[in-house]
Amino acid sequence: MSQYGYSKTYNDLVSPTDLTVAIREHAYRDDFGQHSWITSTEMDLVIEKLSLSKESKVLDIGCGVGGPTMFIANKVGCQIIGVDMEPNGIEAANKSVHRNELKEIVSFKQLDVSQELPFSDQQFSAVVSIDVIIHIQNRDVLFSEIARILQPRGVFAFTDAGVVTGTVTDEEFAARSINVLTLFHSPSYNETILRKAGFEIIDIKDTTDNLIQIAGGRKEARLKFKDELEKLESAETFAREQLYLETILKLATEKRLSRFTYFARKN
Ligand SMILES: C[S@@+](CC[C@H](N)C(=O)[O-])C[C@H]1O[C@@H](n2cnc3c(N)ncnc32)[C@H](O)[C@@H]1O
Repeated sequence: MSQYGYSKTYNDLVSPTDLTVAIREHAYRDDFGQHSWITSTEMDLVIEKLSLSKESKVLDIGCGVGGPTMFIANKVGCQIIGVDMEPNGIEAANKSVHRNELKEIVSFKQLDVSQELPFSDQQFSAVVSIDVIIHIQNRDVLFSEIARILQPRGVFAFTDAGVVTGTVTDEEFAARSINVLTLFHSPSYNETILRKAGFEIIDIKDTTDNLIQIAGGRKEARLKFKDELEKLESAETFAREQLYLETILKLATEKRLSRFTYFARKN
């Protein structure tokens, strides 16, 4: 396992086996290549709220294997760049973009966004980031960088599944954070640092139900293929991953840890 827990999953998606495909089919009701808690309905909402059009120039931060990036390109037909720190994710994304003949408008680049972003001032009209911010330590610095690379009145949408809305125990935080640095915050934190970075907030939606839908699907799908998965990844790893998904579901259904989607505009 790499220091970052997405590497193995993305490696499986570079050349997916029948098992990988079958699990994804069971896990995601609408599979568009996402590895997050976003549904196609929520993607449509992001496109609508950010008023994306063919003329938009979009950056997708933490694009994974490029599902949301290509969803936007397919629907809107705009120029879009997806960046992610995981080389396997970028490799899988590049394979998909060639399959989908979107290569004229979509490109992918390996990039750690906790560093200064290698883009010019005002290069983009919109930035999206789906279920990534939870892993970014200096989120306030990233928000300032996003403001820098956005045009005046440029728009930014991101999701955060780490908003603490009730009591969470240390064991639950640990089970929710396997393999990956995961940061949890009070509900007002994102709003405060967005404003500090020079954004006005357009809207905030509670999208915890989407997380419940997808986490439930992933848990059931893995259970259905338990025997095969235990052989591949060991019984211990299987149990840990199931506990991760069960903890997410429990915390979300009991409204103790919530997911929100934020829409903001550069002042
Ligand atoms: C939950 S996945 C979401 C992937 C994608 N947005 C999607 O919806 O399918 C989180 C992603 O954030 C990426 N990530 C985390 N920290 C990052 C960083 N510092 N720089 C770039 N990518 C990062 C991970 O590699 C992973 O692909």
